[in-house]
Amino acid sequence: MSISGTRNALLGRSPGQGLPRIVSSRGHEIVGQSGEQYLDAISGAYAAILGYSLCSVTTAMYAAAARLPYVHNARFDSCESVALANLLSELGGSAGYQVYLSVSGADGVEAALRIAAAYGEVRGRSYQRQWAALPNSYHGSSGFALSTTGHAAARGRYELELKRITRLDLLRWVRTPRGFDADWTTDRAEIERAIGKDIGVVILEPMLGNAAGCVEMPDSTLAAIAAVCRERDIVLISDEVSVGMWRTDGLSLSQSKGVDPDIIVLGKALTAGLFPLSAVLVSPRIALALQGKANLLGHTHAAHPIGCAVALDVLRHLTLPRFQSDVEGLKDAFATRLADLLRLERVRAIRGRGLMYSVCLNTPEDETVSGPIGERLYAACLSRGLLVMPGEVRGTDGVRVSDHITLAPAFNMPVRTLNHVVHVLTDALAEL
Ligand SMILES: Cc1ncc(COP(=O)(O)O)c(C=O)c1O
Repeated sequence: MSISGTRNALLGRSPGQGLPRIVSSRGHEIVGQSGEQYLDAISGAYAAILGYSLCSVTTAMYAAAARLPYVHNARFDSCESVALANLLSELGGSAGYQVYLSVSGADGVEAALRIAAAYGEVRGRSYQRQWAALPNSYHGSSGFALSTTGHAAARGRYELELKRITRLDLLRWVRTPRGFDADWTTDRAEIERAIGKDIGVVILEPMLGNAAGCVEMPDSTLAAIAAVCRERDIVLISDEVSVGMWRTDGLSLSQSKGVDPDIIVLGKALTAGLFPLSAVLVSPRIALALQGKANLLGHTHAAHPIGCAVALDVLRHLTLPRFQSDVEGLKDAFATRLADLLRLERVRAIRGRGLMYSVCLNTPEDETVSGPIGERLYAACLSRGLLVMPGEVRGTDGVRVSDHITLAPAFNMPVRTLNHVVHVLTDALAEL
């Protein structure tokens, strides 16, 4: 069997769209079949946070595979799964979270929603099945997760199959001379009204990701949502699959903003891209209510001992004081370099936090002829060997409010490589 032949029976995400085939990697680059190199400024998709030369993590992975290649988590715990749960609980601080382990970000979100539903059932509440989520959010491609997703294009043709979700109208787009700005509701009374009386679960991202062009929720809005949820015994889920794990701020961005959500979902960066694994941090209030009363279900490969061993090594790495101070330095350098782009005519806003930013563009008049400008910038970057993520956002009225690309480099990218990323991006912007 050859792995480099021309036959391709792979049905990809966009059927019929030929994709470059990647054969190897090194440092912060992936390498294609003809030797073409791509400098990765998006960590794959927020996952490969330590780049592609992962010596200690792969050693931990091989050792775990040799020790215990598999165990079914419906019947057994493993030393790795318990150690990971304990460590994540400790990192979650005084909230005392218990930790459910799953596979992907989407099924972490689904597990969180099942846990909330089970909690409602135990408390004898049918309304726990009424969920509310933000517009322009993204929670994954499986059923419940896609239902809660606010990004209309992602729900697209699956709409009829999805659960009906209340959209929390807390984010408006306001026209300014340089494009649209996100305007959040901070008023407590308005937030109470938006959530209403019949909602049992609120799911949010404390910073909306590429699906919104990295729009951060103000601390006061998050605090008010959390207060309303607490008063009405609504389960508050913070989906931090993209923004958690020090990508923006700390293990959890919600916690950094002063809120301990009932449930936090982590994924992607947890295993630095090496293994599919997600973690659902559940508050003792909910976890204790479920003791002996619920079957939360799960997946064959959930809490996989190899994935847990990888996550333990990744967390060991991320929490080293020296590494943390380097990451803080990189975040400062990133913010400064990106702010420089605002002097360019094409760039109307830089939004984001930490190591995750969207570069938002002015939309030209001729966009229908030449295609969305974010896609064109993506192509211009790709032709220069730079990997970013393109995005487009429409407001609730369908009007395009953001064309952008998102950058989320690895946490250990050298500052000089990061400077090169911004240099190539500047060059690509000049081509538009
Ligand atoms: C905020 C958020 N939640 C959930 C998911 C789904 O994660 P996965 O693709 O691992 O299923 C994503 C993926 O991009 C995400 O950004």
